[in-house]
Amino acid sequence: MDRGFLFGDGIYEVFPVYGNRIIGLDSHLNRLQDGLDAINIKNPHSKDEWIELINKVISLNTKNKNQAIYLQISRGCDENRKHTYGELKPTIYIQSSAIESREKDSLKSGKSAITREDIRWLKSYTKATSLLANTLYAQEAKENNAEETILYRDGIITEASSSNVLIVKDMCIFTHPKGSNILPGITRDKAIECAKVNDINVIESSFTKEQLMDADEVWITSSTREILPITSIDGIQISSGYAGPIWSLVYDQYQSLKF
Ligand code: PDD
Repeated sequence: MDRGFLFGDGIYEVFPVYGNRIIGLDSHLNRLQDGLDAINIKNPHSKDEWIELINKVISLNTKNKNQAIYLQISRGCDENRKHTYGELKPTIYIQSSAIESREKDSLKSGKSAITREDIRWLKSYTKATSLLANTLYAQEAKENNAEETILYRDGIITEASSSNVLIVKDMCIFTHPKGSNILPGITRDKAIECAKVNDINVIESSFTKEQLMDADEVWITSSTREILPITSIDGIQISSGYAGPIWSLVYDQYQSLKF
């Protein structure tokens, strides 16, 4: 009778952990709160309590130095399946899994992506557990031997099935602004910070599918995939077909957050 199971009625977070360092801990906890507020679930824990629970799970995974902590809060169990809800006790689930480490050299030829129309709801800024559209897009990518499905709405690139999308054109980074159409990715924010540290201009404004295809560099960002170069989209080579120099700078800067 858990509404997380019956309706996908819940919010989740994924925290990247390197050794004992959680990247963007406070930002992830703030986004968790925003998500719970957006769907009217009372946060069952204070920030300090969450940090204690997360650290406990981190310490229990003795096999993996680099971990992704998955935290899910569903609205809880009801007596019957009904769409409406009353006051329920939220269900909490926390899991640790390994973050696959990829050597920089192995990323230089980049990854491929496909594109699809973004038909998701207009609360894509919430990290809701109801991810059916996203999982179908991810599966389509897999079936096309691609890393990701990049999404567009009315010709504008929004994000990807489980990552944000950034492009580089003429030494300037562009990425869709925050709002109803994208998840405000923490790695996206970190990549922007890392670019600014290197004096690279960043403009948070939308770009078209044509601009995506014509970009000097295309990257996707997520807590588990970090910053990945995309060098082929829908079977068409992007720019040189190799990860670009701006990616290399920002990637190195991001690596320094781990230590
Ligand atoms: N996904 N956009 C979507 C739709 C996402 O699902 C994610 C992350 C991101 C990137 O957000 P962040 O940089 O904060 O990880 C953007 C996680 C990793 C997941 O669903 O497993």
